Amino acid sequence: MPVPLLSLAVQEGISKIPYAWTVLRIVPWVLLVGVVKWYFGGASNGSERVLHSKVVMVTGGTSGIGAAVVQQLASRGAQVILLTKQSPSDIFLVEYIDDLRRITGNQLIYAEQVDLTSLHSVRTFATKWIDNVPPRRLDTIILCGGTAEPARAHGQTEDGIDREWQVNYLANYHLLSILSPALRVQPAHRDTRVIFATCSSYIGAQFELDNVKRGVGMAIPPKPGQPKNKNNSNKRPKGIYALSKLALMIFAQSFQRHLNSYERPDKLPPCTRVLIVDPGQTRTPGMRRWLTGGSLWGLVLYLLTWPVWWLFLKSPHQGAQSILYAAMEERYQRGNGGWLIKECREVDCARSDVRDDALGKRLWEFSEKQIEETEKEGAVKRALEKKEAEQKAETQTRKETASAKAQTTGSRRSRKNK
Ligand SMILES: NC(=O)c1ccc[n+]([C@@H]2O[C@H](COP(=O)([O-])OP(=O)(O)OC[C@H]3O[C@@H](n4cnc5c(N)ncnc54)[C@H](OP(=O)(O)O)[C@@H]3O)[C@@H](O)[C@H]2O)c1
Repeated sequence: MPVPLLSLAVQEGISKIPYAWTVLRIVPWVLLVGVVKWYFGGASNGSERVLHSKVVMVTGGTSGIGAAVVQQLASRGAQVILLTKQSPSDIFLVEYIDDLRRITGNQLIYAEQVDLTSLHSVRTFATKWIDNVPPRRLDTIILCGGTAEPARAHGQTEDGIDREWQVNYLANYHLLSILSPALRVQPAHRDTRVIFATCSSYIGAQFELDNVKRGVGMAIPPKPGQPKNKNNSNKRPKGIYALSKLALMIFAQSFQRHLNSYERPDKLPPCTRVLIVDPGQTRTPGMRRWLTGGSLWGLVLYLLTWPVWWLFLKSPHQGAQSILYAAMEERYQRGNGGWLIKECREVDCARSDVRDDALGKRLWEFSEKQIEETEKEGAVKRALEKKEAEQKAETQTRKETASAKAQTTGSRRSRKNK
């Protein structure tokens, strides 16, 4: 077919071929769209590592990039433990895991409840994990859970901490601080990795920890008798998402130093390496929520401009490539860790303070203190709630006994004589 068409074009001119000029006008545009789409799609993971018998723990594995990572890991035979906000008995989660098992042909996919907005939930899971005797196998931890909130949805967690700060950074710090012994006891020959998902917004972040102190960003309640004053609010500082990602990267370096400083009883070098991954801009539910500003009009606008997002943003599968590369690439079995991976290759960090030891120590101490204070308050609150619930239950039982007595007619003697 193309040969007769070509010879016709050469012999009698292009205009003799029906629709030739139309096609010639469209083709360069189609090619341009193809090239742009290919360019923004980013690099692909070329590592073909088989992951049978590896145990991988993943946060954020139920949506977006994390879900694509989990699917690939499970397809390669890894045992996957999803750390999810929901309880493992949640009907949607049960269905999600059933589907994953069916699609990947891997039955070794489980869920454990870890709500990143609750430090207590993180501690409950992590202490349960490290209390296990003998220590459980753990090959990789992938920290993909995160939130980027549109301005109108900014809020605080049940612990009274900025949600973006806690979900993106503090909960990861808490989880890894508790799980650190579980990583250190892995046999020296094991290739153990901790992978942090970051974002290029860290480059513009201001390292201002006062902005994420507890209570910052909370509306100040009006004094009794005073009307609600619009100006009487403690405004939430800007740039918390970027700060949380910068903090995560600084912590990643500190955590590697912390692991390296441990002297193993067998005197062998540490087996855990930390990797930081920037997946690139990706079309995920989180990104959509951020782009739409969490509003209906925003969603309408997003749908109308969808071809633009389709062209310039990666699909979740493409966004997962660098994380899969970090999890599988053989060359990271050795070395000191702390590498930054982007587009399936190692890149230099755009900020030198990410590796600053003193900054790392300051952040570590700040996080430790913030968690300690929050957990103490949380424990008191839980104890009071428990006491209140017990008192309520006692009052209820007393009421029920009294009403049962009241229903029995006559005196005790008359009841005896009956
Ligand atoms: N998308 C991008 O363009 C982009 C760019 C650079 C970096 N990143 C980073 O890549 C990671 C994944 O991004 P994404 O766009 O795929 O995010 P996403 O679609 O919003 O998914 C976030 C995941 O985190 C989980 N999560 C949120 N809050 C949680 C909580 N309180 N407890 C437990 N899990 C919670 C969500 O669980 P539910 O589904 O149950 O809510 C979900 O599985 C994030 O760290 C993000 O910062 C993304």
